[in-house]
Amino acid sequence: MSFDTLLGRVEWWNDPDRIPDEFPEKADELLSKIEPPALEVGCGKGRILARLPDGVGVDVSNVALKTLKDRGILNDVIQAEARFLPFRNGTFRTAYTYEVLMHIQEIDETVREMKRVASRVIAVENTKVKDRFLKVEHDWPNLGIQLIENL
Ligand SMILES: C[S@@+](CC[C@H](N)C(=O)[O-])C[C@H]1O[C@@H](n2cnc3c(N)ncnc32)[C@H](O)[C@@H]1O
Repeated sequence: MSFDTLLGRVEWWNDPDRIPDEFPEKADELLSKIEPPALEVGCGKGRILARLPDGVGVDVSNVALKTLKDRGILNDVIQAEARFLPFRNGTFRTAYTYEVLMHIQEIDETVREMKRVASRVIAVENTKVKDRFLKVEHDWPNLGIQLIENL
């Protein structure tokens, strides 16, 4: 999928009024495991990133970047595609995602790239969700919301 096609399809996620704070306990569990310096891949409108004052975010979506700015979220955020992270090897201690890998086809490339820039990779994903919009289906066991370490 081209960058432009992807971009067109992801904007709806980042409408400030969409995506309620689902699974707050998983967000808390994730936050308890993050060791700085940290990178969020697919930071969206910043519900987790905003709780890490020194965290750095990456998102592909224009709407995400605008929403972060409009909300006054002051983290460093860069527009980038998850498979091509614009950081040197080992820049971060932790790279994490929250409900991002489940939406993308190229999980292996993305996780490899996260491992390149960070020594620890953590993901929270909802394995029940089949992304019909992006037509992404992963062969995951149907376990619901999961925090996955040591990816
Ligand atoms: C369901 S939202 C989750 C946002 C945020 N992690 C949260 O929990 O609120 C998925 C996010 O991943 C971003 N995203 C999807 N595919 C991406 C990609 N290939 N590269 C970078 N960001 C991507 C979307 O723009 C969106 O902000």
